[in-house]
Formats: sequence, structure tokens, C-alpha cells
Amino acid sequence: MAERVFLLGWVLLLLLLLSSVSARSGDPGAQYIYGGCSNVKYSSNSSYKRNLENALTSMVNSATFQPYNNVTVESSNPQEVVYGLYQCRGDIAMPDCAACVQEAVSQFSWLCPDQNCGGVIQMEGCFVKYDNDSFLSKQDKQVVMRKCGPTDGYDDQVKSTRDGVLAGLLNSGQLYRASASENIQSVAQCTGDLNPSQCQDCLTEAIRKVKQECFMAAYGDMFLGKCYVRYTINMVHAPSGKAHSMFSSNEKTFAIIAGLLAGIVLLIIFLMFLKKIFIGEKGK
Ligand SMILES: *[C@@H]1O[C@H](CO)[C@@H](O)[C@H](O)[C@H]1NC(C)=O
Ligand SMILES: *[C@@H]1O[C@H](CO)[C@@H](O)[C@H](O)[C@H]1NC(C)=O
Ligand SMILES: *[C@@H]1O[C@H](CO)[C@@H](O)[C@H](O)[C@H]1NC(C)=O
Repeated sequence: MAERVFLLGWVLLLLLLLSSVSARSGDPGAQYIYGGCSNVKYSSNSSYKRNLENALTSMVNSATFQPYNNVTVESSNPQEVVYGLYQCRGDIAMPDCAACVQEAVSQFSWLCPDQNCGGVIQMEGCFVKYDNDSFLSKQDKQVVMRKCGPTDGYDDQVKSTRDGVLAGLLNSGQLYRASASENIQSVAQCTGDLNPSQCQDCLTEAIRKVKQECFMAAYGDMFLGKCYVRYTINMVHAPSGKAHSMFSSNEKTFAIIAGLLAGIVLLIIFLMFLKKIFIGEKGK
């Protein structure tokens, strides 16, 4: 009897390990890039907390079927209205968008635990922001995060190709854009509340800044309030969805192999168990 209980515990443990492996494999894009909260705080007796929870929940739900949406949770007190938006990167699949927004929202509990009225998170695959000050449709070209790779000398040819690739980002009217040439890749993303000319204006500024601040670095990431531009030379640092889906398929392969191995182990345990019962009954 004790042996059976022991065996059952073991099987449950295996199943638990397996499910955690497969859960991990399902979220490409859920990698944190930056985040922050406003210093403005709401008081503990206000209805802001509940309004905020509603806003976050409705964004998580919406992300299962739309790559962008905004929410406004109304309140009789104008200071307690919550505005929010999320934007998934244009090249990720809807299930990944939903997983990313859900992960981003869950990070707010440690990022902004202190009754902050506003919060923002950028993950690899999505951006989520909320505040009681309406920011929807408003341009925001402030540098929020920038990162430049190492500079490995200066090459006129490489620089002009890189600049051409970045300029190519301005040739599309989309929220998500990709441009590449030879060994240089770049991507850009605006939030969906910007109109096409605001998006163009934001990206023009991000390109100017990334060229100025990262000069000839092997990669450059320039995140402004409402848009970003990222480039990489020789895939030193992967800004595009491609490398990520590679990563996630590696993880999936790992999950499948782990699953197969665990299946075999379970089968062996089961056979041993049968054998034991069988021999046990014969022995009587
Ligand atoms: C919260 O409580 C304080 C003090 O009790 C009061 O002055 C304030 O008006 C209250 N705020 C709200 C939103 O009810
Ligand atoms: C946001 O809430 C804070 C705290 O209640 C308040 O001081 C501030 O004025 C509000 N902002 C807006 C734009 O209503
Ligand atoms: C906000 O969302 C509503 C409904 O989804 C949409 O009609 C509106 O255009 C959006 N506003 C912005 C600024 O994106």
C-alpha cells in the first residue's frame, strides 16, 4: 500500500514537472525589456484600484483576439478614470500576444505595488500602459529606454547600408515595420493609438536618435514613449520575431523530448507495476 502511494506521488510529480515545461514553451515574446510607474499615488479608499483591475482584465481578454486595443474605465470622480492600452508586436501570433499581455499585466504587481496611478511595461512581444491621465492618441517621443551594442570600428559601407535599412522603415504606413539588407535587420513598432502621421513622426525621431546615440554599434534599440526602432548587424542581438520563434521552437522540441522520455518512464513504471502484481499473485 505504502509503495503504491509512493508510486502515485512520483507519477504526480512527473506530471507536474511536465506541465511546467510545456507552459514555459508557450510564451515567446514574454521577455521583459523595461517598465516603470508614475510617482502619483491613489489613496487606499478610492475606487481606483477596482477600476484599474477592470482595465487590466479587459486588456488581457481583448489580447486574445486583437493585437491592439485601448480601454477607458469611467468613474464619477474624473481623477479615478483609468486609461489603458496594449500593443502587441505586429509579427507575433494571437496566442503569443495574449500570453505576452497576460505576463506583462502580472508583472505590474511587483513593478508598481505602491498604489501608483500609472504603469508601463515593454516586453519583447508587447507593450502595456495605464494611467489616470489620458495619454491615448497623444504623441510621446521621450526616450524611455535605449541600448547600444559594442562598436567594432567604423566601416563606411556598413554604415551606409545600416542607414539605408533604417530609412527603409519609413516607407510603410504600418504600425509594425521590418526592413533588411544583406546582414542588417531592423524592426519598428508604433502603438495603435497614433495616427499614421504621428507614427511616422515618432519613428523619424527614433531613427535619428538611434543613429546619433548608437552611432556604429553592432545593434541599437531606441524605445520612445509611443514607438521603437531596433536594428542589428550580423544578428548580434535579435530584434525580430524570427530569432524568437527559433528560440521557442527549440523550447518546444525540448518539451516534446522531455514528454517522450517521461512517457517511456511512465510506461516502464506501469509495466513493472503489472509485473509485480502478476508475480505477487502467482507467488500466493
Ligand atoms: C479618503 O479618505 C479621506 C480621509 O478619510 C478623505 O478625505 C478622502 O476624501 C477620501 N477619498 C475618497 C476618494 O473617498
Ligand atoms: C490622478 O490621481 C491622482 C491621485 O488621486 C490625482 O492627484 C491626479 O490629479 C489624477 N490625475 C488626473 C489627470 O486626474
Ligand atoms: C479606442 O478603442 C475604441 C474601441 O475599441 C476605438 O473605437 C477607438 O478608435 C480607440 N481609440 C484609440 C485612440 O485608439
